[in-house]
Order: sequence, then structure tokens, then C-alpha cells
Amino acid sequence: MGFVEPEPARPTAALDGRSPATDNGAMEAILIAPARRGDSARLAAMSRRLIEPGLEPCWTAGRIERHRRHEDSVVLTARIAGSIGGFAIMQYGEDAAHLNLLAVEPVHQRQGIGRRLVGWLEETARVAGTFSIRLEVRASNHVARAFYGALGYGEAGSVRGYYQGTEDALRFERDLAVRPARRDG
Ligand SMILES: CC(C)(COP(=O)(O)OP(=O)(O)OC[C@H]1O[C@@H](n2cnc3c(N)ncnc32)[C@H](O)[C@@H]1OP(=O)(O)O)[C@@H](O)C(=O)NCCC(=O)NCCS
Repeated sequence: MGFVEPEPARPTAALDGRSPATDNGAMEAILIAPARRGDSARLAAMSRRLIEPGLEPCWTAGRIERHRRHEDSVVLTARIAGSIGGFAIMQYGEDAAHLNLLAVEPVHQRQGIGRRLVGWLEETARVAGTFSIRLEVRASNHVARAFYGALGYGEAGSVRGYYQGTEDALRFERDLAVRPARRDG
């Protein structure tokens, strides 16, 4: 098999539903769904602001739009009250899927949106028969390191100068066949 078939990358009813953003009854609806035509410029701006500060931006609207249209990629958004509160880009390969980008607007962070975006993409990978997810984070990004650690990703080495020769990357990887240990024992 080459890259995974496009069909499993489409949202299922179970994964595409609306649900509360908070556990306190505020019932702010979040819609997790593939990006729409016209979203790419906004997503590129989020990437510049939240993921690429201090780097030469390389996730242009055109590049994101190419991923949105490509059958081996998913550009996923979390929409809150109609506007984009978070997004992720995943590329599905034969042996592994690569999580290219993930960001949640600061005002919506720590509400479980990042976890839901990644969970949606992981479920899609499982359905497609791709059981390994890989990604890189900037070595200085301690929040992302804590986030991926909390989601069951393990550090899998580092790459010197990965980010435009100015910053190292840490590689993270998760084997989806291994269920994370329950936190409540
Ligand atoms: C990393 C990021 C996507 C996390 O999104 P989020 O929606 O805030 O994360 P969640 O609310 O789903 O958090 C899930 C778990 O990750 C961990 N976590 C998340 N943010 C954390 C923080 N600031 N400090 C420590 N742990 C954190 C926690 O264990 C959290 O669970 P808890 O809230 O029950 O304790 C978000 O901080 C972000 O967009 N950062 C800027 C962009 C970025 O760094 N992207 C990743 C690299 S591409």
C-alpha cells in the first residue's frame, strides 16, 4: 500500500459532533471538523503567531491550502462559536502519520481542545491502519513537551538545528497500539 486511502480521513458522525468546551456547564459548543475553503489564510496567521515566532514563517496559506486539498493530509479545525479556536495538520504515510502543526488560541487553551484535535487525528489514523504518530517540537517549547507527554507521546531523540539552523527539535512518537496508562489507576 502507498499512502492511506482518503476515505478513513473523513470525519465520522461520532467524531464530528458538537460538545461542551468546559466541564462547568458553560456549554460553549466546539465543532471539530476539517478546515473549509477560505480557512487557510487564518490558519497561516495562527501558525506565525503561535508556532513560528522567531522563525522565518514557512507555513504559508498556500502550503496549508495544498495540505487541505491533498488526500493524504487532514487540516482539522476546532470551531468555537463559529470562529477557529484551534487547528492541526496531519499527513498520513504508509508506516506513520506525521503531525505537522497544532495550535490552540491562548484564550481557549487548557480546555481540552488540543487533546480533542489530536484524539480525532489519532482515531482517523487507527481506522486507516496507521499505528504510529510522529512529530517534532521546538526544544524550547516546554508547554508542547508537557502536552505531548500527557497524551502518551514519548521522546524519540533530537535533531540539531532542525528549525532553520537556529533551534533544535525534539522528536516525539506514539504507538497507537499501546493504550496509555489510566491516570486514576
Ligand atoms: C500545546 C497546545 C496545542 C495545547 O493545547 P491545549 O488545548 O491548551 O491543551 P489541552 O487543554 O488539551 O491539554 C491537555 C493536557 O496537556 C497538558 N498541558 C497543556 N497545556 C499545558 C501547560 N501550559 N503546562 C503544562 N501542561 C500542559 C496537561 O496535562 C493537559 O491536561 P490537563 O489540562 O487536564 O492538566 C497549546 O498550548 C498551544 O497551542 N501552544 C502554542 C502552539 C504550540 O506550541 N503548538 C505545539 C507545537 S506545533
